[in-house]
Amino acid sequence: MKTVVLYASPTREMPGGSISTKLAEKFLVEYRKNFPNAEILEFDLNKEEIGIKTLTADKLVTKEFFSEATTKKFIELLKSANHLIVSSPMINFNVPAVLKNFLDHVAVANQTFRYKYDGDGESEGLVTNLTVQILCTQGAPKGWYPFGDHVAYLKGTFEFLGMKVNQPILVDGTKTKSFGQKSVEENLSEYSNQISKAAKF
Ligand SMILES: Cc1cc2nc3c(=O)[nH]c(=O)nc-3n(C[C@H](O)[C@H](O)[C@H](O)COP(=O)(O)O)c2cc1C
Repeated sequence: MKTVVLYASPTREMPGGSISTKLAEKFLVEYRKNFPNAEILEFDLNKEEIGIKTLTADKLVTKEFFSEATTKKFIELLKSANHLIVSSPMINFNVPAVLKNFLDHVAVANQTFRYKYDGDGESEGLVTNLTVQILCTQGAPKGWYPFGDHVAYLKGTFEFLGMKVNQPILVDGTKTKSFGQKSVEENLSEYSNQISKAAKF
């Protein structure tokens, strides 16, 4: 049993810490009870080349972008793992750039998906071994921005790559007054049932 955990929050080193990271840590406490023998590989995308390196015109033309240390390493990892746990806040209506960079590195035609445009107009995902748990936060209450839904974006992208995606957990309204009146731990305890159910996969 191999489990890959991705942390994407830019607030991880702020004095108050990161709520999406604490959500993932709370999830992992339950997860470890259910899968005590799992090999858990954790990556802070703020510190990884795959999170920091952005797709630019020069890096694409020189083929520097899809490197052994990024694309090859992580596609192999994703194809050999059972579970993927992704922790991400909303930053300017979508996922943080480090997570978008990660997806740009691993969404590669004929490696993680295949076009079938000649057939029924659909594509085929090639990472069918993985089940994903999305753990997200956002400052605003859910639904405030019809044009910004990072949970739907992640779910759709992972499904496109062939992965099975469990019911995502979204801690929303982290910037609201009512959220701020309680501690992060108290706020997250409201998600305890959802977390313990989801951590069974
Ligand atoms: C630079 C920045 C941009 C943000 N953009 C949004 C946004 O577009 N919509 C939103 O609801 N919250 C936004 N937030 C609030 C965060 O999603 C929220 O505070 C989240 O809980 C912070 O990440 P964390 O959960 O890892 O602590 C933003 C926060 C930061 C720091």
